[in-house]
Amino acid sequence: MLVAENVGHAYQTATVLSEVDVTVGEGEKVALVGPSGSGKTTLLYCLAGLIQPSNGRISFRGEDLGALGDAQRSELRQRSFGFVFQSAELVPELTLRENVLLPLELQKVPVRERTRRVDELLEQLGLAEQAKKRPAKVSGGQAQRAAVARAVVHRPAVVFADEPTGALDRANGAVVVDVLWELAKEQGTAVVMVTHDRDLSLRADRSIELLDGKIVPQRPESHS
Ligand SMILES: Nc1ncnc2c1ncn2[C@@H]1O[C@H](COP(=O)(O)OP(=O)(O)O)[C@@H](O)[C@H]1O
Ligand SMILES: [Mg+2]
Repeated sequence: MLVAENVGHAYQTATVLSEVDVTVGEGEKVALVGPSGSGKTTLLYCLAGLIQPSNGRISFRGEDLGALGDAQRSELRQRSFGFVFQSAELVPELTLRENVLLPLELQKVPVRERTRRVDELLEQLGLAEQAKKRPAKVSGGQAQRAAVARAVVHRPAVVFADEPTGALDRANGAVVVDVLWELAKEQGTAVVMVTHDRDLSLRADRSIELLDGKIVPQRPESHS
């Protein structure tokens, strides 16, 4: 569904990705692992159409992201992709509920349908009581669960997550990933997740390891 072919990227003169081939299937959960600076975030952003790679091609359901105009690419991202970053990055002036409503407003989902879906999701994530609070008034784990809700509420094809548990303690991090996995499974959403956490990467269908901007070939025993 999401295919990267011979992707390379350089910032100014520094080459940080080269000859990367990745295929993500519908509903597949992929962990992106590797040391700091190995190019994980850059690859994630290329796959998500946030960065135009210097070389190669990224296609989503057969559509070449590089051939789209900026407006078309941004529309595709809004419709088909969801994002979770290391910190929740919710809009501070809005309540959790209003934050989760945003993607549906952008998609022009009818108001009744929006309300129903958001309230259901907040309930499912144990956030019903926090729904009317602003991000600053809830815990980091609650904010990150709201960020997960925002990433999946419009039923995207792919959720991209960049170290989504990096700012949380272990227990809260585990909850956040549990809900992300559960929702992705329910909705058939693919997940591409950068993580340093080996336990998390083992729960993915597959791990892709980067080293100095290249994919490390997998040893057979590392497949589960
Ligand atoms: N905007 C940028 N401009 C210049 N260099 C960058 C930029 N973003 C990342 N880099 C460099 O690219 C390399 C890969 O970074 P990144 O993709 O963030 O790796 P990771 O997520 O694995 O830590 C690093 O050496 C980093 O310093
Ligand atoms: Mg990174």
